[in-house]
Amino acid sequence: MSGPAKVAVLISGRGSNMQALAEAAGDAYEIVVVASDKPGAPGLAWAIQHRLPTFALSPKGIGKPVFEAALDGALREAGAEWIALAGYMRLLSDGFVAKWRGRIVNIHPSLLPKYKGLDTHARAIDAGDAAGGCSVHVVTEELDGGEVLGQREVAILPGDTPETLAERVLAAEHQLYPAVLKEFVRR
Ligand code: GRF
Repeated sequence: MSGPAKVAVLISGRGSNMQALAEAAGDAYEIVVVASDKPGAPGLAWAIQHRLPTFALSPKGIGKPVFEAALDGALREAGAEWIALAGYMRLLSDGFVAKWRGRIVNIHPSLLPKYKGLDTHARAIDAGDAAGGCSVHVVTEELDGGEVLGQREVAILPGDTPETLAERVLAAEHQLYPAVLKEFVRR
């Protein structure tokens, strides 16, 4: 296929990974929509300022099936071929994952398969691990369970707190995610 791959990025918060993806896109992919389940997500304001198309809808009061149908429609209307989750804090239903099978990726702040779910940095520090890090993986029905596409290790330093470690891992995420996404959309 010719032209850049068309990627939708889903966010719920500040969207720093979305920004890193946008800034590193080059000719490999194009962000065709930034979508959020949180209409007030700070990342949406950044996307609007940078002239990226946006879609925002809260599932509150409409229920998950209606919300996901609207989301799916917005992504398809934008021409998205791939979905990159970037701090998207809501679980996608099995039905949604099935519709986009093999086309959704996520960035997770641990060295998967270690520390799926939340509080990854605190768990790595508490376990006495020498390193934390981040992983980009394919999204399947299993939480943080799909094929790992790439990882970056970040050393845990004496005196690290979850916050100081998170900051360094986030910088690694911003390097890792665009590089892995570029490879992935070439598949
Ligand atoms: C990152 O730590 C990412 O690994 C996790 O959620 C956070 C999102 O941060 N999935 P941001 O919204 O991209 O700044």
